[in-house]
Amino acid sequence: MVATAKNTGEGWSSRSAFILAAVGAAVGLGNIWRFPTLAGESGGGAFVIFYIACVFLLGLPLVLSEIFIGRVGQTDAVGSIRRVAGQSNASPAWSIFGGIGAIAAFLILSFYSVVAGWVLYYAGTMGADFIQAILSGDPLRGALAGESRDQIQQRLSDMFASPMLLLVMHLGFMGLTLFIVARGVSSGIEKAATYLMPIFFVLLLGLVIYGAVEGEMGEALTFLFTPDWSKLTPPVMNSALGQALFSLSLGVAGLITYGSYIKEGSGLGSTSAMIAIADTCVALLAGLMIFPIVFAVGLDPAAGPTLVFQTLPFAFQTMPGGALFGFLFFVLILVAAVTSSISLLEVPTAWGIGERGWRRPKSALIFGIGAFVIGIFCLLGYNVWSDVRPLGFWSLFAETDILDTVDGFTGKIMLPLGALLTSLFIGWKADKRLLQTTTGLSPLSFGLFRFLIAWLCPLAVIIILVTGLFPSILGA
Ligand code: PHE
Repeated sequence: MVATAKNTGEGWSSRSAFILAAVGAAVGLGNIWRFPTLAGESGGGAFVIFYIACVFLLGLPLVLSEIFIGRVGQTDAVGSIRRVAGQSNASPAWSIFGGIGAIAAFLILSFYSVVAGWVLYYAGTMGADFIQAILSGDPLRGALAGESRDQIQQRLSDMFASPMLLLVMHLGFMGLTLFIVARGVSSGIEKAATYLMPIFFVLLLGLVIYGAVEGEMGEALTFLFTPDWSKLTPPVMNSALGQALFSLSLGVAGLITYGSYIKEGSGLGSTSAMIAIADTCVALLAGLMIFPIVFAVGLDPAAGPTLVFQTLPFAFQTMPGGALFGFLFFVLILVAAVTSSISLLEVPTAWGIGERGWRRPKSALIFGIGAFVIGIFCLLGYNVWSDVRPLGFWSLFAETDILDTVDGFTGKIMLPLGALLTSLFIGWKADKRLLQTTTGLSPLSFGLFRFLIAWLCPLAVIIILVTGLFPSILGA
């Protein structure tokens, strides 16, 4: 039985290709930029342990649910949910969360590409610096030799101040994403994942070893794994829950879409577990790569979003081989970002193919250009429109610039909403027999899965939603 997606006729060439692509989608800026940032800001250990619990109790059942819907539906997210609903005697109106997911993916793509553009610029800067180091006969010198800490920090402000530079980087990254998605599932997305993910893992391990040799690994381990439970405040728990959703790419129908290209076979439970485990290991390894370097130079782990762009380049300056490893570090983030951004573009693209009957290149182009244009608004929010507050009338977003508004609106509202509807649909509506035979879970695992998806996930996600919308409840 070869049940490729009916509307597109496309599919993965093997189970491992699917896993690689799905891990590529999950592993991204969320793991390497956002996770260490949040862990640093939230004081380390307690956040990390709570985060891991969220991934396995909440994230994993949702991963399995999304893949199940795609596997059964065999078409874009909206159509797939409709099919599962049809086979479960549930209302086709449930397919609305596929639509919410596709819109969320499209919006996330718009600012994701802008941030990836910053990474692209830093990879270029550090690459040029490394070439200079080679030319000067000292390839193993530190990064950005001779620059003061202020000068290094100034680089970020200078970049933000230049709309043209940001635009060109955003264009380059979006162009690459569009190029891959337009080529299709097996010759575009799968091929990119098969080439890029091994490179990613080699770079990641190389940089962790570098951190262990040159940095303060002991201090980083203590910071990341010794919990100080007093730091686990409600806002910290809330951000850990939200980060688990974001990092596993949940709530945007991404895994429904990727799951729809699975041709045959079951074992969805173990596949889902592999995705969740790989994503978590990468986040932890990213912490074990970044914090030893940060501590080696006595810098502040709680620097926030600029940790990667200001703190680390300075750290790389003082470390032997910093020019080389600093460059590799930004290449690593870039690789992770590409394999995620293609999954973001794929969700609306599949919708256009499945629901509108467009050809793939046309669909990818429409959504790629659309997200590019919204991204332009986001990047202008860093300079010419820095005063613009798009949802300023809403107290939650009163102080947020354009990019952070799109980020906050999708992350705080759309993703939790998508995840909530997914868990309600699978926990309460989907046909149990269909669910059990397709997922291939043992009776015990199936019982646990059903409990988590029907009760724990909706409850936890409602908490994220409500406290995200009304932060005053948490006293924040
Ligand atoms: N999971 C990706 C990351 O960690 C982000 C993402 C979210 C990708 C949603 C696809 C869908 O960077």
